[in-house]
Amino acid sequence: MPSALARPAGAALRRSFSTSAQNNAKVAVLGASGGIGQPLALLLKNSPLVSRLTLYDVAHTPGVAADLSHIETRATVKGHLGPEQLPDCLKGCDAVVIPAGVPRKPGMTRDDLFSTNASIVATLTAACAQHCPEAMICIISNPANSTIPIATEVFKKHGAYDPNKIFGVTTLDIVRANTFIAELKGLDPARVNVPVIGGHAGKTIIPLISQCAPKVDLPQDQLTAVTGRTQEAGTEVVKAKAGAGSATLSMAYAGAGFVFSLVDAMNGKEGVVECSFVKSQEADCAYFSTPLLLGKKGIEKNLDIGKISPFEEKMIAEAFPELKASIKKGEEFVKNMK
Ligand SMILES: NC(=O)c1ccc[n+]([C@@H]2O[C@H](COP(=O)([O-])OP(=O)(O)OC[C@H]3O[C@@H](n4cnc5c(N)ncnc54)[C@H](O)[C@@H]3O)[C@@H](O)[C@H]2O)c1
Repeated sequence: MPSALARPAGAALRRSFSTSAQNNAKVAVLGASGGIGQPLALLLKNSPLVSRLTLYDVAHTPGVAADLSHIETRATVKGHLGPEQLPDCLKGCDAVVIPAGVPRKPGMTRDDLFSTNASIVATLTAACAQHCPEAMICIISNPANSTIPIATEVFKKHGAYDPNKIFGVTTLDIVRANTFIAELKGLDPARVNVPVIGGHAGKTIIPLISQCAPKVDLPQDQLTAVTGRTQEAGTEVVKAKAGAGSATLSMAYAGAGFVFSLVDAMNGKEGVVECSFVKSQEADCAYFSTPLLLGKKGIEKNLDIGKISPFEEKMIAEAFPELKASIKKGEEFVKNMK
């Protein structure tokens, strides 16, 4: 299981499992008792890259931590319950993953979660800025197009902002695109890599199938269909779960893959590339997901969009208004916070 499950999710460069000498990452999961948090914590506990796993939630963390702590892997596990135990959970962390907050129910958009999740993300990232300002911050909570700007503004308020260390985890979009293209073309999904750029909601999710490795040729109707399926894949799961939440297991897989890539890069592995929704200088939008070269201190280089097709160019242009509005909404939220 380890080599398969611990395999990072996307680019060919990061297919192999790390054998780094410094497998000592201290990782915290905030929202650790939830549908994503629990399987994510399991995958992190299963990884030799992690030496300390601290779990925070407003409910059930003692039980989740006790359960995981019996697994015969090296990472120590500690549960932290309620705000007074949050500082201890964060101190000394190298990376913090945040899947805290409510998920969608059928008929909801990700933006419908804003009223609940904005303040949860603001509170948790404020604690990160105070107690582990150097850590990599990986945000899963939706609406990601707004929660990453929220995290940024909160870190700025605390004078601890480093744009190279705040990530919106969009890896599930890449995982999905890889799977769907592989299904369509009869390929091994583990060998397919489709960069997905833009944001993480509906039309802002832009799979760059023209850059797929290996190269795939699809007639326009199939291209449109598989692009649309990737954009609406989260809703496909929300509908199938019929009120019991959104993607959790595939998200945990994707989130763990992202953390492993990040830790690999922090350990000095070269050529680690991940797409993530980050502060961007490269596109005509303050935040944008593009492939990023990761390094010891987070983002080493934004690899930008690269060469794309007219179909993809059009999708980017169409995504900008929604993306910009979601970003502004997040920024305004922090500005108006007392
Ligand atoms: N980025 C992505 O690709 C992606 C994919 C799927 C889901 N999500 C998002 O991830 C989030 C979590 O989804 P889930 O299915 O795990 O939800 P869930 O309801 O199963 O779990 C959320 C957990 O957060 C905890 N929580 C609530 N408020 C908290 C607080 N103030 N501090 C700490 N913990 C708190 C809850 O107690 C719960 O255990 C949702 O916002 C969902 O939309 C993102």
